[in-house]
Amino acid sequence: MRILITGGAGFIGGHIADSLTATGYEIAIIDNLSTGERQNFPGSARFFEIDVTNATAVKNALEEFKPEAVCHQAAQMSVSRSVREPDFDAEVNILGLINVLKAAAEVGTKRFVFASSGGVLYGEVTEPAPETTTPNPVSPYGISKWAGERYLQFFSNEHGMNTVALRYSNVYGPRQNPHGEAGVVAIFCTKMLAGERASVNGDGIYIRDYVYVNDVVNANVKALTGNSTGFSAFNVGTGIPTDVNQLADALKLNCQEELKQRELTVTVPEVAHGPARAGDLRSNLISFEKIQAELDWEPKTKVEEGLKATATWFAQRKLDASTP
Ligand SMILES: NC(=O)c1ccc[n+]([C@@H]2O[C@H](COP(=O)([O-])OP(=O)(O)OC[C@H]3O[C@@H](n4cnc5c(N)ncnc54)[C@H](O)[C@@H]3O)[C@@H](O)[C@H]2O)c1
Repeated sequence: MRILITGGAGFIGGHIADSLTATGYEIAIIDNLSTGERQNFPGSARFFEIDVTNATAVKNALEEFKPEAVCHQAAQMSVSRSVREPDFDAEVNILGLINVLKAAAEVGTKRFVFASSGGVLYGEVTEPAPETTTPNPVSPYGISKWAGERYLQFFSNEHGMNTVALRYSNVYGPRQNPHGEAGVVAIFCTKMLAGERASVNGDGIYIRDYVYVNDVVNANVKALTGNSTGFSAFNVGTGIPTDVNQLADALKLNCQEELKQRELTVTVPEVAHGPARAGDLRSNLISFEKIQAELDWEPKTKVEEGLKATATWFAQRKLDASTP
C-alpha cells in the first residue's frame, strides 16, 4: 500500500513514517522543512520537498506517487502566529489542506487522515471531553483545524473519500522541536539538560492531557489502514490530567538521572515561575472511548514512562552532539 505523509519530516509525521516503513508500506513525504528535518524520516521514503500551499507542486507529487492513503500532518502550528497572521495560518492550514485533498481526490486516493486538535476545539473542560462536545475554537489556528474537519466531511460526501480527523491532545516524545511555543516537554528537557532554569508560566496549575507520540502513531496507523467509511472524528488522548508543575518535577528527576548515567556534570536547577500567559486554559482533557470502541485504539504509554523515554532521548542527543 502506498501512503503519502505531508509534514513527514516533522515530529509526529516522522514517527508515522518510521512505523509504516517498518511494517512494509511504501512511503512518500511532502514537507517544506520549515520546522521538520530530513533526518526525521527513513531514507527509503520518496521525498518531495515542496510547500503544501503550492497547488501545482502538490498535484504533480500526488500524480507521480498515486497514494492509496494520505496522512496530512503538515501545518503551521503556532497559536500565537495564527493570532498575529491569521491569513498565513489559513493559507497553510486551510488552503494547503484543500490542495492536498483536491489532488488526492483527482488521483483516486481512498483514505485521508488529518491531524486535528482536541486541545483547541474543546476549550476549557474539566472532565475528559467526548467528540460530541460542541467545538468552540477561539484562535485562528483552532478555527483552521475546525474548518479542516469540515472540508474532510465535504470531500467524503462529494468524492466518496473515506476521511478521518484525529483530534490529538498534547503530544510529546523524542524528536519534538524545542523551539516552538508548544512542546513543553521538549522545551523543559532541553533547558534542564543544559543546566538552565526552565520557566513555568504563572502558578503552573494548567491541566493538560499528555499523549505519547508512539500512541499517536498507532492511532494514525489504525486510521490509515482501517475500514471506516465516510467522515469520522476521533479524540486521541489519555483523559489523564497532569499539570505543568507535575511535569516539571518528573522531568527534573528524569533529566538529572540521565545526566548522572552519562557522567555529565550538570545540575538541573529548580524551575522558575514566570508571569501567567494571557488566555491559557486552566484545564483541557479529552476522552478516548470512541476511538477505543471503533478503531480498537487506547493509549499504551503511561505518562511516567513516556517522560522517562523522552528525557533519555534528549540526554542521548546532547551526549552525541558533544562527542567529537
Ligand atoms: N504536537 C502536538 O501536541 C499537536 C497537538 C495537536 C495537533 N497537532 C498537529 O499535528 C501535526 C504535526 O505536528 P508536529 O508536532 O509533528 O509538528 P512539526 O512542526 O514537528 O511538524 C509539522 C511538519 O509540517 C511541515 N510543514 C509546515 N508547513 C508546511 C508547508 N506549508 N508545506 C509543507 N510542509 C510544511 C514542517 O516542516 C514539519 O515537518 C500538525 O498538523 C499539528 O497541528 C500537534
